[in-house]
Amino acid sequence: MTRRTTVIAIDGPAASGKSSTAQMVAERLGFLHIDSGSLYRAATAAILRSDHDPSAWTEESVLAAAAPVELRTARTSCYPTLAGKAIEDEIRGHDVTRNVSRVAQMPRIREWVNAKVRAAAESANVVVDGRDMGTVVFPDADLKIFLIADSRERAARRLRQRGTPTSEQLLDDETIRIRERDERDAKQTVPAPDAITIDTTALSQSEQVDQIVALSKDRV
Ligand code: C5P
Repeated sequence: MTRRTTVIAIDGPAASGKSSTAQMVAERLGFLHIDSGSLYRAATAAILRSDHDPSAWTEESVLAAAAPVELRTARTSCYPTLAGKAIEDEIRGHDVTRNVSRVAQMPRIREWVNAKVRAAAESANVVVDGRDMGTVVFPDADLKIFLIADSRERAARRLRQRGTPTSEQLLDDETIRIRERDERDAKQTVPAPDAITIDTTALSQSEQVDQIVALSKDRV
């Protein structure tokens, strides 16, 4: 079936500023923002509640644990719930971040996330962010952006976002964690051939948002 809504896909590696940028672009355009990573995180949080040994997780056990996850809409954003309750703090915690890439390698979990994201985009114009939105989920997206940034700058942003006082040691540790996640996610983090790559290392958040909004006015 042909899609009737507009899709802006924003992909890129961990902590490249995708989600916050996507949310602001959505607000400026009056679109709905869907953070596909939040669904991988929700599935991970769900299985962690019942099984603390990630090496024992199977596609079946993760899918079963994730069955009560829903994507709720609030104005221009979406958030996952587990058995009807918002789980924002849980999905941003260390345990989930450490284990989410393992869950994201499971093909049936990827299908589960993709179906939820596509369903949300059926009835609204959307800004979707993730790793493979412009390649796998919406190869026909109206605009595709691939955000990149230097790993140390991404680590610094992560620490600022958490409100953690920054030291060189913390920055080194966070940079290592981000590079490790880049490696684990490398397979699905590839720009679409028709994506516009924006290096945000030296850009402010509002500059990124302005650039994408301007591109969307040209293209959409
Ligand atoms: O974007 P965020 O860092 O919250 O995503 C969490 C994890 O979910 C990523 O590290 C990656 O393993 C997975 N992910 C993915 N494909 C997407 C979005 C996220 O594999 N489209």
